Amino acid sequence: MDMKKIDQSPTPLQPPQTPKLELKLFVNGVSHQLTVAPAARMVDILREELGLTGTKISCEIGRCGACAIHMDDKLVNSCLVMAYQANGTSIYTIEGLADEEIQPIQKAFLEEGEFQCGYCTPGIIMAAKALLDVNNHPNQEQIQEALSGNLCRCIGYGGIIRAVQRASVSLKEKQTSSESSLSLKHINQMNKEEFVAEVGWIFEHSPWVAEKAWESLPFTSRQELLQTMETIVKNAEQSLKLTLLRAHPDLGTKLKMSEVSQNEQAGIGLDQLPNEEFVQFVSLNQRYVEKFGFPFIMAVKGQSKESILMAMQQRALNTYEDEFLAALNEVYKIAGFRLTDAIH
Ligand code: FES
Ligand code: FES
Repeated sequence: MDMKKIDQSPTPLQPPQTPKLELKLFVNGVSHQLTVAPAARMVDILREELGLTGTKISCEIGRCGACAIHMDDKLVNSCLVMAYQANGTSIYTIEGLADEEIQPIQKAFLEEGEFQCGYCTPGIIMAAKALLDVNNHPNQEQIQEALSGNLCRCIGYGGIIRAVQRASVSLKEKQTSSESSLSLKHINQMNKEEFVAEVGWIFEHSPWVAEKAWESLPFTSRQELLQTMETIVKNAEQSLKLTLLRAHPDLGTKLKMSEVSQNEQAGIGLDQLPNEEFVQFVSLNQRYVEKFGFPFIMAVKGQSKESILMAMQQRALNTYEDEFLAALNEVYKIAGFRLTDAIH
């Protein structure tokens, strides 16, 4: 009988097939589709697949909070979240907090946090944000509780708690200012008197700019309103432009100035210059005024005392014509910032 030979050689071992998951995620508002192992950790996916290295890895067992992210608006440690658990969720990482302007929370941590190596910082900021999203005026105990899952090896927690308190104040101010700002629709319905009362201060408290701009109502955007006002200034007589420049309050000189200018200058500490710096500002400004006949003007948002001082020294070397244009350009920038705050 023809017997079939039985193959007794061992079957070669096949490596186990790792199942793959088609992972769908929204990360910082952007949709992603990735093929990953179902048990891949979110912290690795974020850092290695998406290059979002702001989320840190430290203990890897959910004890330090360095890897904290927001998943469907909940604070989670991404070292403990597996891909299959995150499928279809919306994720926010520290990178998602950055905006055109630095977020009030990040700004507060820069000012108060006193961090050293900074490794814990993204996780702490994400935990602070999770708290402030649901409680915009937390007390010290609530802050301590909210940050109890975050470890910092370098510093004490005093600065961190102060940073969260400071962030809560700035967030509230931001909210109040957006509630109190006017809509463009509202502006477009104003009579001349109302319009001048609302936006007459935008260009150095020189209401003639707004009076003329009112004739071009309605505006389709804030930008159009700004451009209209800018054009009015550009086409004005030289003497009117000079009056406008002269209406600008002196930088950092502790003179009486409008609340708006005070806030603008206080934002970078110009209202509290130590004596030595105050004397330096005043004397530079005096020399500037003697040369040009108008005060030094600079949009201070995003600047530091040092960058302003440097600009003051450099611009003092300009010719009158160049500096006149430079000062007007700063007026336009300041007006842009003011309009953004005043109208939504
Ligand atoms: S690395 Fe995730 S909690 Fe420490
Ligand atoms: S600043 Fe170094 S761990 Fe917090």
